[in-house]
Amino acid sequence: MTTSELLRVSELSVDAAVSRVVLARVMGHADTNLYGSVHGGTVMHLIDEAAAATAARHAGVPALTVRVEGMDFLAPAHVGDLVSARAQLVDVGRTSMRVRAVVTAERWNELGPVVLIATAELMFVAIDGQGRPVEVPRLAPADVEWLAETVTEGAATATFVPRETGQRPRHT
Ligand SMILES: CC(C)(COP(=O)(O)OP(=O)(O)OC[C@H]1O[C@@H](n2cnc3c(N)ncnc32)[C@H](O)[C@@H]1OP(=O)(O)O)[C@@H](O)C(=O)NCCC(=O)NCCS
Repeated sequence: MTTSELLRVSELSVDAAVSRVVLARVMGHADTNLYGSVHGGTVMHLIDEAAAATAARHAGVPALTVRVEGMDFLAPAHVGDLVSARAQLVDVGRTSMRVRAVVTAERWNELGPVVLIATAELMFVAIDGQGRPVEVPRLAPADVEWLAETVTEGAATATFVPRETGQRPRHT
C-alpha cells in the first residue's frame, strides 16, 4: 500500500462507545473534608482520569487536559460510597476532543439508590511525541446525540435518582 492510499487519521470515523470509560472507587476517610463529605478535588481527580482515558483511547495517542468547561457538584458523597465517573466523547475538533462526564455515588456494600453527584465537560488535545497537537479521528455522527442523552441521564441505571432537590445538570 502506498502512502497516498493510507487514510488520514481525520478521515477515520470511530464509534464513541469504543472509548467510553467508567472509573470507580470506594471513598475512604482520607477522601473527606472537614465537613465529613468527599473532597471536590477527589471527585475532580476521578473525572479528569476517566475523561483523559476516554480522550486518549479515541485519539490513540496521549491527550492533555486544556480546559474544564463547567463542573457541577450536585450532591455530596460520603465515606463508604462507591463513586463512579463515567466519561464519553461528545464532540471532536481537528486535534481537540470534548468529553462529558457524570459521577454517581451509591453505598459500596448494599443495593440502593444511585445518586448523581457531579457532571462536567472537559477539553483535551491529542499530542505527538514532541508534545505537538495531532489530528484525531472523527466521531461517528449517529453517536453524538445518543451519547449526550445517555450521559445526561446519568449512565442509565435503573435505580438512578437525580439529586434530592430535583435539579438537573446544565450540560444538555
Ligand atoms: C496541548 C497543547 C500542546 C496545545 O497547544 P496549543 O498551542 O494550545 O495548540 P493549538 O493552538 O494548535 O490548539 C490545538 C487545539 O486545542 C484547542 N485548544 C487549545 N487550548 C484550548 C483551550 N484552553 N480551550 C479549548 N480548546 C483549546 C484548539 O482550539 C485546537 O483545537 P482544534 O485542533 O480541534 O481546532 C498546549 O496547550 C499545552 O501543552 N497545554 C498544557 C496542557 C497540560 O499541561 N494540561 C494539564 C495536564 S494533562
